[in-house]
Amino acid sequence: MLEINKIYNMDCLVGMKSIPSESIDLIVTDPPYKLTSRGTSGNMGGAFWTGDLAKSGKVFESGSVDISDWIDECYRVLKNGTHIYIMTNDKNITSYLSEIDKSGFEFVKTLVWVKPNKICGRWYMTQKETIILARKGKQRPINNAGTSDVLFTPNFKKQKSNGKNLHDTEKPVELLQTFVENSSNEGETVLDPFMGIGSTAVACINTNRNYIGFELSEEYCKIAEKRISEATSNQIELPEIEHNVPQRQFDWLDELLEGE
Ligand SMILES: C[S@@+](CC[C@H](N)C(=O)[O-])C[C@H]1O[C@@H](n2cnc3c(N)ncnc32)[C@H](O)[C@@H]1O
Repeated sequence: MLEINKIYNMDCLVGMKSIPSESIDLIVTDPPYKLTSRGTSGNMGGAFWTGDLAKSGKVFESGSVDISDWIDECYRVLKNGTHIYIMTNDKNITSYLSEIDKSGFEFVKTLVWVKPNKICGRWYMTQKETIILARKGKQRPINNAGTSDVLFTPNFKKQKSNGKNLHDTEKPVELLQTFVENSSNEGETVLDPFMGIGSTAVACINTNRNYIGFELSEEYCKIAEKRISEATSNQIELPEIEHNVPQRQFDWLDELLEGE
């Protein structure tokens, strides 16, 4: 039996098998997925990934799991009347929606996270990430129906002293916190099978939810532990974010709205 409020340094495909059925109140996750070969994933920090593997369309950010490997377990562990949020990109969205449907989830909608930075691509520059929201079983409205499905959240990645990112695909705690607050209640338990450096766990601590998760990399687990202990002792100062209002970085949008 696994403990809550812990990130296990193990393969989630193994770890999730030990979670009892219908015991989880919400899943928020940012899985490794296939990248596009010319910088259109929105996740490569502006770099083009042009290697042979990328051209084959079989490159994953890390690990090499496909959604079909883990989505059925997500369905099993969630209670009836709960939500799952899955971050994805244009390359994977069709297969993700198909697998989500096959596993029994009801697709609710996609949300868009608009990022301040743009990434070059062959067609349009990428400035967004897509989040799939689906539900298991009976309808469950979100807690704040006034939340827009377009979320403007700054994207500051934590860095090491050498200037490199602690994790290249770290997601903002503020963004994850919106999902946690809208689709669970205090004291409930949130699962993230792909914890990275623990952003979902920090979002849960900040909002008085329990968390459980898995992460393959020992280094990421250690960073997550440090962030968790800082969040637990309230050392992390979170900026106040109004999710329906464009942030200062989106000056072009401010100007557009003023011109109307
Ligand atoms: C996109 S990242 C998640 C980043 C996270 N949202 C954050 O803000 O730190 C996906 C993570 O899944 C981990 N991973 C890949 N395959 C895994 C597996 N089978 N079990 C557990 N973790 C895995 C990778 O090491 C990577 O850190």
